[in-house]
Formats: sequence, structure tokens, C-alpha cells
Amino acid sequence: MTTIQEQVSRYGYVTEKVSEHIDLIAEINRLKIEKNAVILAHYYVDGAIQDLADYIGDSLGLSQQAAATEAEMIVFCGVHFMGETAKILSPNKKVVIPDMNAGCSLADSAPADKFAAFKAQHPDHIVISYINCSAEIKALTDIVCTSSNALQIVESLPKDQKIIFAPDANLGRYVAQKTGRDMVLWDGACIVHIDISREKLAQLRVEHPDALLIAHPECKEDILLQSDFVSSTTGLLKFVKASNHQKFIVATEAGILHKMKESVPGKKLIPAPGSDNNTCACSECPYMKMNTLEKVYNALRYEQPEIHVPEDIRLKAYGSLERMLELSKGI
Ligand code: 13P
Ligand code: SF4
Repeated sequence: MTTIQEQVSRYGYVTEKVSEHIDLIAEINRLKIEKNAVILAHYYVDGAIQDLADYIGDSLGLSQQAAATEAEMIVFCGVHFMGETAKILSPNKKVVIPDMNAGCSLADSAPADKFAAFKAQHPDHIVISYINCSAEIKALTDIVCTSSNALQIVESLPKDQKIIFAPDANLGRYVAQKTGRDMVLWDGACIVHIDISREKLAQLRVEHPDALLIAHPECKEDILLQSDFVSSTTGLLKFVKASNHQKFIVATEAGILHKMKESVPGKKLIPAPGSDNNTCACSECPYMKMNTLEKVYNALRYEQPEIHVPEDIRLKAYGSLERMLELSKGI
């Protein structure tokens, strides 16, 4: 018999088997009330988890919720850096995530020691970091941004301000092109968005000439250049709702289609496929898909795995997130 703590340190999540007689959704809702917990979910997690969440959103919306909630516990269904961000913003709340292994290729691309050395080579630069990074990188950052506010945050700085943008080079290049700013880019990428297949996308565009192509700015430059609209997940969702068009090719993680289909039931939404021939013919984030109903239930029940951030790092990271939230009021 392993203890819950041993399960978490060995496997990264509570491996306790859940009885098949349990109604997981009813139990999650009961535990949520009993423990005064709130469930936050990103648009990329499984639809069943989105459906039971108290709030579903993009990285900016989720951070705003994490900072504002009055719940005692936050169950963050997304990836590790999102849970960490919630803990940085709400240090007195217990923050649990369903699976500690749910990382992010962008966050992994920027180890703190290498990034500190890179920053030291550019002493007169301000550091803007995409929220998809570790607490240590946020602590080395002046202002955090998300794909919803990156343009505004860069534009809020004086034109001659030298900027390091990390860790997503595709988002950084896109922002540099849009704002006309010359930024030093860290060379990180999202494994999901850069894997969207150019060939399969071209084929889809031939098959659906009447579809608009909408894309997340983590996609490669050639996809962004041919897109009719580029934005964060929330931005893409709002766009399909407001547009008069009836057909869209959606170049981002397929989880967003769950809310999109619900919001615009009559419109045709076609996911942009990745390079492998998976059964969904779409692009899926393996980390986001580590969130399962069973793990959500166990995380809520056993209050594990819990996110901890050392206080010295947290305080510095809090400053860069606070500046972002301040500059994002009204978004
Ligand atoms: P947004 O939801 O903020 O657009 O971010 C997308 C993403 O890749 C999150 O990991
Ligand atoms: Fe990270 Fe990309 Fe997955 Fe988002 S979709 S969590 S950026 S790997």
C-alpha cells in the first residue's frame, strides 16, 4: 500500500483507483462545495472537464480569476505553469493540479540558469515573458504577457525601449512585426502549434475555399501570414461568434472547438491537423490531455498534487504578473 504522498512523488498524481460505481461529476460537484473549491479550466482540456469547471478561459482570464477568487482551494485544470501562476497570485490558497507531469514545451525551453545568462548579455533590455514559463523565469521578468495582451504590453513601452521577448519565438516575431519593435527573441516554441502541417492545411484550404483561416500566434510564421485572423484562444472564440462567415479552419489546439461548437452550433469548424495521422485529424496538446475526470476527482478529494513556490521567487514573479494585470484592466 502506497500513501497518497508516495503516489504523487512517484507518479506525479494520485493513482488511487476510483470505484466505477462513483458518479464522478456528482462527486466532484459535492466535494467542490464541501471544500469551498473553485475549478478553473483552460480551453484545451477535455470537454467533460470544461463542462464542470466554474470558469473556462485563456491564460489571461484564468490568471484574473485566480487572483480574484474567494475560494479556499483552486483546482487548476491546465498545465503546471498555470497552477504555479495561480499560486503566485493567490499564495494563501491551496492550489492543486490533477497531474504534475502536465508541463509545457515553451516553459521547458527556458531553463532559469540559461535565461539568466542570456538576460545578462542584454543589460539595457526590459524582459517581457509570455506567461507560458516557469516561476523562476517570471522572477527574472519585468512584465508577463499572454497572447491576449502581448501587443498592448509591448506598445505600452517607449518606442526606443530595448526588449527581450521570451520564451515563444513565434509569438515574439508576430508581436515584433505588428508593433514594428525590434525585439531580441528567446528561441522557444509550442510543440503543438509548430506541428500544424503546412501540407495538410494547404489541402484543407483547397477543399474549403470559402473557409476563413484563424490561428493562434504560437503557430509558425508562414501559417500566421496566410491567416485571416490571429489571436488568443478567447480572441478566436469571440471572432467566430461575431463573424458573418459560416466556415472556419481553426489553427490551434483542438480543445477550443468544444466551446466554439457550443457558441456557434450552426457554423462549420474545421481543426487544422498536426503532422501525425492521429484519429482526430486535429492538433492536441499531450500535456493538457493529461487532465482526466478521475485525476480531477482525486486532486479535489486528496488535495494533491499541491503547487508550492518558494517565497523569494514568488515575490519577484508576483511583480511581473501584477504589472501585466495592471496593464490588462478592461481586456
Ligand atoms: P491562450 O489560451 O492564452 O491563448 O494560450 C494558449 C496556450 O497555448 C496555453 O498553453
Ligand atoms: Fe504548452 Fe503548447 Fe501545450 Fe499550450 S498547447 S500547454 S503552449 S505545449
